[in-house]
Amino acid sequence: MSVVKLAPSILAADFARLGQQVSEAEHAGADRIHVDVMDGRFVRNLSMGPAIVQSIRRVTQLPLEIHLMISDPDFFLEEFAAAGSDSFLVHWESNNNLHRTVQRIRTLGKRAGVAINPATASGGLEEIVQDLDQVLVMTVNPGFGHQQFIRATLPKIGRVRELIERRRPACEVEVDGGIDATTAPLAVRAGATVLVAGSAIFGAREGVAAAMKRLQTALNHIDDETEAAEQSALQRSQRCSSE
Ligand code: DX5
Ligand code: ZN
Repeated sequence: MSVVKLAPSILAADFARLGQQVSEAEHAGADRIHVDVMDGRFVRNLSMGPAIVQSIRRVTQLPLEIHLMISDPDFFLEEFAAAGSDSFLVHWESNNNLHRTVQRIRTLGKRAGVAINPATASGGLEEIVQDLDQVLVMTVNPGFGHQQFIRATLPKIGRVRELIERRRPACEVEVDGGIDATTAPLAVRAGATVLVAGSAIFGAREGVAAAMKRLQTALNHIDDETEAAEQSALQRSQRCSSE
């Protein structure tokens, strides 16, 4: 089984059936629920606030991670925490005092993560990563669901993985945007351990459970491929030593 975690993003859910859709994702093996919060300023879109978090908190046991695509994250932290949030992802680009924001999240007893946009270099994380539980590498520009995965972000996922191995191995490498059964294996091979997926899960015609299964199958095949590669490497080295 794959150890990669799936975080369905409810941005793509049918809001008239939100509770039911979250439960379906939970029963299909979701590891957490990803909540995209947008303020119309940091990104050109509006989405949801603490009231939604409070409602879904009642229907699921899963951790709720809040992706704050807003220009003043500090102002809303307490309200989202009181609504039942478990972790916060704040943007590098929206914050001149990231260290302070991360400390505030920790003071609230929540997990802290920093998100970086496709054009933001990973090097800036060097000075904050030791305080983080998650790094979110955006694989689309934030603001909307159903965008195309930006393949140019793949080497950066690898650089973030390398940084985390060196400075804070317990930290998760998460990716967000354009993740489906084709792009998920690319992100995982590059070093991601948590995948956010919105339209590939809630937008799928065959339903949430079947869509989750399709992603899980794609991820399990990576394990098979890796195992096959390890087996053949082992056989090669055994052959060499017996020659
Ligand atoms: C984009 C959001 C994503 C979004 C992903 O700004 O941060 O979480 O829901 O949606 P898909 O999976 O459809 O690209
Ligand atoms: Zn998101």
